[in-house]
This record gives sequence, structure tokens and C-alpha cells, in this order.
Amino acid sequence: MGLSNFLRTQIKRLLLRRGTMALENKVPALESKFQSIDECGLYLHIPFCRQICPYCPYNKEIYRPEVADAYVRAVKKEIDIYARLLGGRPVTSFYIGGGTPTTLLHSGLDSILQHVFASFNMQCGVHLESHPNDLSQANLSAISSLGVEHLSIGVEALQDWHLRTLHRPYTVTQVRAAVERAVSNGFQCVNADFIFALPGQTYAEVEQAGHALVDMGVDQIAAYPLFQFPYTAMGRAANGHNHDIGRIFRRRKMLGILERIFYDAGLARTSVWAFTRPGVPKYCSVTVPLYVGLGASGGSYLKDVFYLNTFNVQEYIRALDSGRLPIALSLELTTDMQMAGWLYWRLYETRFKKSAFQKRFGQGFDAVYGRYIKPLSVAGLLKDKGDEIVLSDGGAYWLHMVQDLFSLEYVSRLWGTSKQEPWPARVVL
Ligand SMILES: C[S@@+](CC[C@H](N)C(=O)[O-])C[C@H]1O[C@@H](n2cnc3c(N)ncnc32)[C@H](O)[C@@H]1O
Ligand code: SF4
Repeated sequence: MGLSNFLRTQIKRLLLRRGTMALENKVPALESKFQSIDECGLYLHIPFCRQICPYCPYNKEIYRPEVADAYVRAVKKEIDIYARLLGGRPVTSFYIGGGTPTTLLHSGLDSILQHVFASFNMQCGVHLESHPNDLSQANLSAISSLGVEHLSIGVEALQDWHLRTLHRPYTVTQVRAAVERAVSNGFQCVNADFIFALPGQTYAEVEQAGHALVDMGVDQIAAYPLFQFPYTAMGRAANGHNHDIGRIFRRRKMLGILERIFYDAGLARTSVWAFTRPGVPKYCSVTVPLYVGLGASGGSYLKDVFYLNTFNVQEYIRALDSGRLPIALSLELTTDMQMAGWLYWRLYETRFKKSAFQKRFGQGFDAVYGRYIKPLSVAGLLKDKGDEIVLSDGGAYWLHMVQDLFSLEYVSRLWGTSKQEPWPARVVL
């Protein structure tokens, strides 16, 4: 067993009190699950792109108008099913991701959004992921008129040679112009996604890109190290060398350079990856406590169950055409799993209140996790301020590493299998 596997198993045993978890091809009893929730978030996956980037792990395929039309019709049928299940309970966040949602800007996104607003009790604005090449002035006006208040842009790099390595179809001059147009468009929050620790990237390049990101005037910057998923073209080329010690050290130093630039510019850390201008509502999809995921590969989390739609677009459409929910895999969560998941996502946000844990689970936080928090606090990875726990920059970095350890392995196994088999019988994590 390699070191990564050993660590993964130990952490699972410690937090979940079990060595493995298995997702099964079973549709959960949703009527009763929905009865026990008061509100939830909504995620919609648009699995279309105009090109496929060699590093990208997400579920996507090349945009084809006839498939996209059928997809839009299927999403509306899925909305109808959940509108009945939710029965007027408030939807408190709405995030549209992909793939590239802006591929549907003039071919169905508006009709999906109208259907969402007509079907659910929407108590929130719209978050949308976008590709820089889709952000002409006319398109930005169209995006605003859909009710989008939070826009995220896949900038990825700010040196032309790195954009070429990533096969991104624009230059630095073009992406800067797109971001600046978006910033002047009056959104509540414009987020720029940026990837560092690229092959051959120097510290000086990271520094220059960090300043360039700040100079563009965005409200939030999400800076991710390049993850090498083994089922992507770049992951296959890297051949599993993601955890070697030189790479770990380089990433830590690069993140330190970016942290310094972002803090000097007045941004504050709002999650493990994201730095946000104070007073701006942050752009983030993953930390919502309970959510329903619509679309091919949409994932849903409802207190004691996590489930995942089929990744296959044709099968997704076929299931909804025959009146069925397109759920491919589900996992019933024990209380230990729910608590560990809660803790992970609250740490991901870098701060949380122990009283929120007590409210959610009816047990004292210190009684359940106090024995782990003390040594982490002594090691300087977090501060225990009585009711509040705050992650330090060092703690955020080590959470990166844990995330890397789990997400690369889990996401590869779960998404890799789901991409190959529309209805897998079982996936063991
Ligand atoms: C769905 S994409 C963004 C929207 C749009 N499709 C685009 O490419 O511009 C989501 C973001 O995930 C990040 N991302 C994708 N693959 C990654 C990888 N292998 N490592 C680190 N970040 C990655 C990128 O920053 C990307 O902008
Ligand atoms: S990075 Fe964006 S554009 Fe590229 S394949 Fe992934 S989702 Fe599509």
C-alpha cells in the first residue's frame, strides 16, 4: 500500500469509523427525505463546451445544438419532479456550472431559468460559470438580463505560453479585456478562476500573474494548483507524480506568493481556494449545507443521503423522457459520515461556529471532535477561539493536501467510472 492509500484509510477509519464506503445503483426514498428539510440550494450542470481542455476533470462533451435542445427539455422535466418534491420550500442558492453554461446562452439557458423561477420558491440570485470567449458586451448584457448577479470566469493563466499549454483558445490581452468588460457590467461579484503550479511555471510568473489578477479589479480570485486527474490527457502524461515532495514544496511556496499579493490588495481568504473583497458576497458552489443537483452528473446532498445523476447525456435525456429520475448512484450516510462531511466543508470555508454543529447534530462539537482540534491548534493549523474555529493559512494549505489526497482518488474513481458506465452497479471508495 502506498503512503497516500495508507493515509486515506487511516483518516477514514478515524473520522468515519470505517475503511470503505460504497455507492450503490439505488434511487433513495426521496419523498420522506424532502419532508425533513426546510430549505435547500440548487445546482444545475450544463455538460457542453466548445472545446475539451486537456486538464479538465468535469463531465462535459462538445456542444451540439440538437443534443443541447433535447437536454434543455430534459432539465425542465427534472425541474418539474423536484418542484413537486420541494413543495414550495425556499431555494436559498442557485449555482449553474459545467462544462460551460454560457454555450447555452442563446439556445436554452433563458428558458431553463424561466422554468426554474416559475417552479421553485427562489429566494436568491443566480451564480453562473462562464468562458472568457463568451463574454462580448452583448453577451454580458444578455447574462445580466437573465438575473445573474455572480459571474465566474475561467481565466486560468496570465502568460500566453501557459495558456497554450492548457490549450485555452485566447491570449492574455483578450482574457484581460473580457474580465474588464465583466467587471464594468455591474455584477455583485465577479470571480476569476486561476490555475498555478503549471508545468515549467516559475515563481516570478506566479507573482506577475497574481498582480495582474488584482489589477483587473475582480471581486474574488479562486486560485487552484493544477490537479492531475489520471483520466484526463494531462493527468495521463503526469503519470501519478502528483504527490512528489518537490511538487508539494513548489505549490506551497507559490500559494504563499499569491496569499501575500491578495492580502496586500485587501482581499480576505473566504475558502481554502478563494480570496474575496470584504463586503462582497462570495462566489462558491460547494459549501451549501443541503442541495439538489440537476443535469447530467448533478450531485445532491439531503442530510443523510448523497446521490449522483448519470453522467451520460443521452441516458439522462432518456430517463427523463420516460418519466424517471436519472439517479445512477446513492450513498446513505451514517451520523459519523454526516458529521465528518459537515466538518470538512466548514473547514473548507476556513471558519465556523461550534454552536452551528450543536444546532445541526444536537451534540457538543468539543465532545465529538475536541480531541483532534487540540493538537491541530498546538501545531498552529487553526485557532480555537471558544465558540469559533478559524483555520490559519498553514491549515488551509494542509487542507489542500488532504483534499488532494481524497479528491484525486475519489473523484477519479467515482467520476472516471461514471463517465465510462452510465449506470454503474456499485462504486467503492
Ligand atoms: C467548469 S470550469 C470553468 C468555466 C469554463 N468551462 C471555462 O473553462 O472557462 C471550472 C474551473 O475549474 C478549474 N479547473 C478545472 N480543471 C482543473 C484542474 N485539473 N486543476 C485545477 N483547477 C481546475 C479551472 O480554474 C476552471 O475555471
Ligand atoms: S475547463 Fe472549461 S472549457 Fe475546458 S473542458 Fe473543462 S469545462 Fe470545458
